[in-house]
Amino acid sequence: MCGIVGYVGQQDCVPILLKGLSALEYRGYDSAGVAVLENGKMAVRKEVGRLAALEEKIGRMPLSGVIGIGHTRWATHGEPSEVNSHPHLDSKNRIAVIHNGIIENFRELKAFLQGKGVSFRSETDTEVVSQLLSYYYEGDLLKTLFRVIPMLEGSYALGILCQDQPEHLYCVRNGSPLIIGRAKGEFYVASDISAILEYTRDVYILEDDDIADVTKEGIAFYRETGEQVERQTTQIAWSRDSAQKGGYDHFMLKEIFEQPRALRETLAHYVDLETLTIKREAMPFDREQANALEKLTVIACGTAHHAGMIGRVLIETLARVKTETDIASEYRYYDTIDQPGETLIAVSQSGETADTVAAVRKAKGHGSRVVALTNVIGSTIARESDMVMYTLAGPEIAVASTKAYTTQILLFEIIALDLANLRGLLTDEELRERLRELAALPEKAEQVLSHREEVADFAHSEKGCEDVFFIGRLMDYYTSLEAALKLKEVSYIHSEAYAAGELKHGPIALIDDTTLVVATLTQKRIVAKTISNVEEVRARKAKILLVASEPIPLNNPQDTVWRVPDTDDLFSPILMILYVQMFAYYMALQKGCDIDKPRNLAKSVTVE
Ligand code: F6R
Repeated sequence: MCGIVGYVGQQDCVPILLKGLSALEYRGYDSAGVAVLENGKMAVRKEVGRLAALEEKIGRMPLSGVIGIGHTRWATHGEPSEVNSHPHLDSKNRIAVIHNGIIENFRELKAFLQGKGVSFRSETDTEVVSQLLSYYYEGDLLKTLFRVIPMLEGSYALGILCQDQPEHLYCVRNGSPLIIGRAKGEFYVASDISAILEYTRDVYILEDDDIADVTKEGIAFYRETGEQVERQTTQIAWSRDSAQKGGYDHFMLKEIFEQPRALRETLAHYVDLETLTIKREAMPFDREQANALEKLTVIACGTAHHAGMIGRVLIETLARVKTETDIASEYRYYDTIDQPGETLIAVSQSGETADTVAAVRKAKGHGSRVVALTNVIGSTIARESDMVMYTLAGPEIAVASTKAYTTQILLFEIIALDLANLRGLLTDEELRERLRELAALPEKAEQVLSHREEVADFAHSEKGCEDVFFIGRLMDYYTSLEAALKLKEVSYIHSEAYAAGELKHGPIALIDDTTLVVATLTQKRIVAKTISNVEEVRARKAKILLVASEPIPLNNPQDTVWRVPDTDDLFSPILMILYVQMFAYYMALQKGCDIDKPRNLAKSVTVE
């Protein structure tokens, strides 16, 4: 989705803005632009398509200055075109605005301004902001913001420049993320931390209804009512290199291979690995809360929802707490039966997914306690929840989620074990035993990843494959759902997941000798049933790939088999999915897909 960058300082801002926009490319966009105050005059360059097109335009029509804003647009209102791309100027060309989010009442505001004789250039909702500011402007943009911002409905992060105040960059946040990085004599504005990691890790995270007035001398924060407020910086732990490809061809491959590290760091944050005990202060429930728990609800979208489904099985199996999962976009509108005092677990890598944010707000409105599992410090979901557990995955840049997913599952494993222990269902010794097994997962993950060549070769042999079915039972079914999503989103190959027992109830009609069926066999007590289903698809001439835990005996030599190192059945989803992540990557690679930025997808889905 859209990306915002801004700079105020002493350097030429244009290369900084372009570099920042390039770091945000992964979010998905269809046009880009910058506005710079050049010798006191507003200079704007915009272009449709990739950032390279904008860079080329700037090469032909250079601009420079020490204060500027930049934007990548993912079209919502109006087609991708130069005129619809940001920054948007007012009719007098003195105020430039970049915007993430949606101004929901833009039609009314536009009609009002048109009634006053203001003419618009674009079809966007954003242009009403620059035109409104211009309409009410009386020489002090900050005062104008106090008047105009309360008129806007919807969600927005804004970066604003005014030609008459050439030292000031104004930032506004309401429902859409915006941060300001502080360095010596300079400030870096961005909608996403990865765009500024190169310069600073000392950031202000704007709160909803904050207005920041940024100059190279300093920064002042106001509420939209005009009241001045203090804001503190937060230190971001992510390293500068973590947002670079680090020698890999794609972020997705890098992030797949970062998983052993991400798992180790996440585990060490919640578990004392010497004593094999859970760090109490890092956990969401104390003994009393754990014993009082009657029900948990897990909500999330996409891959995070798949992690939540695994979480449900873990919590129900180990801690015997009834757990429901729901897709956030459904939950937010469903007429749910809620009791005050319930607990909702919201799972979100970005912490900014619009539907998940809405679900959190709904649950809080009903008096629920919200525990967030997220990867991004200071994200909306992190800030609005009652308690946050962070996945220590580091920045996830590839659109397809990999390391966030496995670390989310790891958090559910720790939560489930802790709840089981607090509820008296797992002795301290049994808990230590399970934690020892968890601690072995990163090394086992490395073992799986060492099969990279074998997976790449298999992907090569399946080059022409057009339909893939993933089947499994229990945990293996939920892992299959994620497997099918991973494959389709990066390689555009049609893939579906079915609970293996459901095949006979319809989907088997689609199986023929052109279908690849991937059977997931890690749940030892039920595996014989899935193997029977494999025989049924074999009889329909499907090609078969088995992803099976090591001790499971298999004896059909014509099947391809990928072995998952043996572990507790409940912990195997983390290992199994690594094979499929690599498979999806290599299928996409040989099809020449844009792996890190698959078509039509955005990393952080901040609009509904
Ligand atoms: C798929 C993927 C998406 C996200 C979903 C939720 O690989 O990444 O399905 O999982 O958009 O995003 P977050 O976790 O940021 O809320």
